[in-house]
Parts: sequence; structure tokens; C-alpha cells
Amino acid sequence: MIAILIGTNRLGSRTRLVGAHLIRLYAELGEETRPVDLGLLPNEVGSPRAYASRPMAVSRFAALLEAASGIVIVLPEYNGSFPGILKLFFDLLPHPSPLEGKSICLVGVARGRFGGLRAVEQMQNHLLYRRAHPYPYSVLLPDVGLLLAEAARIQDPASIKRLREQAEGFLCFVASLTSGGGNQEG
Ligand SMILES: Cc1cc2nc3c(=O)[nH]c(=O)nc-3n(C[C@H](O)[C@H](O)[C@H](O)COP(=O)(O)O)c2cc1C
Repeated sequence: MIAILIGTNRLGSRTRLVGAHLIRLYAELGEETRPVDLGLLPNEVGSPRAYASRPMAVSRFAALLEAASGIVIVLPEYNGSFPGILKLFFDLLPHPSPLEGKSICLVGVARGRFGGLRAVEQMQNHLLYRRAHPYPYSVLLPDVGLLLAEAARIQDPASIKRLREQAEGFLCFVASLTSGGGNQEG
């Protein structure tokens, strides 16, 4: 099972539409997915008490990430980085973290022409710190407003092709790390 992590809680987020595309895509490839949508986190996540008393919703999402053989993070670029809610969610995860030893694939989403490159690169650094295994082929989706303008679905053939190639490669990456002992301490 692959978890599709929607990296923002913004109402009306386009990242969520890209996540829906990925759920359909992985289903076509015969892979089960589970969405982890940060838009479903309660306000309690922002409370000063959340570090000592982890909100149930965070624990539920953490269990989903733990159970997944790989995680696809769809992350928008907010002010040259990834959204604060995504960092807060990661900060509230239990230890050892479900990110540790996990294969993780990134899809950057941005209105700007760099397609979330800065957010993706910063997330790659963070994932290395968390001892995850970032899949080296990230997809960047620039001008996402235009990309999704018609029918709120990705119809651009080049973007569809890149996302499909990434998904196929990521599933091989997950399989090779799972069978090759990539989760070992070292
Ligand atoms: C708080 C905030 C900051 C943003 N900063 C950037 C940015 O630095 N670069 C960029 O290309 N787009 C930026 N955007 C636009 C997003 O890329 C755009 O909203 C896109 O649709 C993806 O985000 P979404 O999932 O919230 O829709 C920003 C949007 C918000 C809400």
C-alpha cells in the first residue's frame, strides 16, 4: 500500500487535485493507496499541548504511514518552502518515526514556473535527516493553476507521462528496497 500525503490543509488546494490524480494513477498500476490529507487535521494540532499529548488524528495518520510500503508526498510551494502544517505534522509524529527507512517520492506543485523546486529540495534534506529514502526522481508541476484550469484534472500529456513514469519507477524502488533490506540500520 502506498500512502498519498497531501502536504497542505488549505481549503480549495490544488495539491489535493493532484493527489486525486495520483490515486487514480496508482490504481491503474494495480497498487492500493490510502490518502493522508492534512486538511482533515483538527485545530488541536496547533495547540501548545499537542507535543505532549498527540492528537488522535496524528496517531491515525502515523499508523497509516507506518503501514505503507512507500509514501508519495504531494507538496505545494509556500513562500519558497513547503507548508508549515506539513512540518508541524512531521514534528508531531511518534518516535521512532514512520518516515525512518521508508521510501518516499515527491511531487512539487506551484503556481510559479519552478514547480515547487525549492519546497522539494528542502523536503529532500528533511527526509535525509529523518533517515528516510527519498526516491531521486521528483516531478515538478509548474503553472499548476493553468494545468488544472479545465475540468480540475490534469490533461496535459507531458505531465501525465512524467507522473506515470515516476510512479512506475517508484514502485520498483519500493520493491527493491523492501527485498534488498533497505530498512536496515546502518
Ligand atoms: C501561503 C502561500 C504561499 C505561496 N507561495 C508560493 C511560492 O513561494 N511560490 C509559488 O510558486 N507559489 C506560491 N503559492 C501559490 C501555490 O503554489 C498555489 O496555491 C498552488 O495552487 C499550490 O498550492 P495549493 O495546493 O494551496 O493550491 C503560495 C500559496 C500560498 C497559499
